[in-house]
Amino acid sequence: MKILVTGGTGYIGSHTAVELIQAGYEVEILDNLYNSKESVLDKIAEITGTRPVFHKVDLLDFPGTLEVLRRGFDAVIHFAGLKAVAESVEKPILYYENNIGGTLNLLKAMRETGCRSLIFSSSATVYGDQGVARLDETMETGRGITNPYGQTKFMIEQILRDVCAADSDFSAVLLRYFNPVGAHASGLLGEDPNGIPNNLMPIVMKVSTGEIPELSVYGDDYPTPDGTCIRDYIHVVDLAKGHLAALAKLQPGCTVYNLGSGRGTSVLEMVKAFEKASGAALPYKIVGRRAGDLAELIAVPDKALSELGWKTELSIDDAMSDTLRFLGKNH
Ligand code: UD1
Repeated sequence: MKILVTGGTGYIGSHTAVELIQAGYEVEILDNLYNSKESVLDKIAEITGTRPVFHKVDLLDFPGTLEVLRRGFDAVIHFAGLKAVAESVEKPILYYENNIGGTLNLLKAMRETGCRSLIFSSSATVYGDQGVARLDETMETGRGITNPYGQTKFMIEQILRDVCAADSDFSAVLLRYFNPVGAHASGLLGEDPNGIPNNLMPIVMKVSTGEIPELSVYGDDYPTPDGTCIRDYIHVVDLAKGHLAALAKLQPGCTVYNLGSGRGTSVLEMVKAFEKASGAALPYKIVGRRAGDLAELIAVPDKALSELGWKTELSIDDAMSDTLRFLGKNH
């Protein structure tokens, strides 16, 4: 089976490309390298022995995208998109244009070339604020989304539902990720965002290397046992494997799965786990709450287990030691 991975040099895309190649899939990558490096392809080659065919193409370039799709693919896994929440609030047009426009171009190119299977990199952010901690796929989405990034994920989900409704042969799987963390066990691949990071683990990594003096913990007055927010952190390799499970079960229609562990970890527990793995104290200070943060968000991952036979296997401690191995090889 031949798979196109958009955004395949990025954090989750590269780990998924590795798992796909190791499982025997033929993989090609399309990426504009906006937030990733071409050298990731060498790392994928080092791990798997195969360097995927690479297309440096922006999905907003329709002729370029069509040319890639003309090579013929059985399915597309669509990661490419902008993902910085705060930036999306400042630059909504950029986010809507890139994420929605890019997806529409991809779908048009798929239609023109007869490819009708897509796995979409969605996010738990589509649940908005449900007023409860545990989120399952039956919940109504879209209410209480606080930023354009989240809106684009919600809107793309809707677009894919409509595409499936209009074309009974189209297969779409919407994978709602919880909080991806960790790195490849080889230490060769990991999260390496360009510019100033927004998410917890990339900031923790930069604090540990001294590039950022200390972690600001956003609030310790939430209604949780230690007062800091709780999230469902999922090892990126487990997450990557979720895409292979979805690929194996592709069927016409639009299906949605949470990809999470079902377990919650607080910000301070994440700090402690990192300190345990590194053997060094991580400087942090408690500051005020960050706008838009919710106290507790945890996946109900039962549907992915019962229908895809997928569940997480790696722990927070695995994620921390893999992150440190990646840091050791890259700093
Ligand atoms: C965020 C986005 C979410 C997006 C996801 C992508 C928000 C409100 N939500 O999720 O839409 O899908 O990233 O990965 O931005 N924290 C600190 N200090 C920091 C950074 C984070 O204390 O410097 C805390 C946050 O308050 C939160 C936890 O760490 O409780 C995780 O934060 P983050 O990694 O940004 O993920 P989310 O906010 O869950």
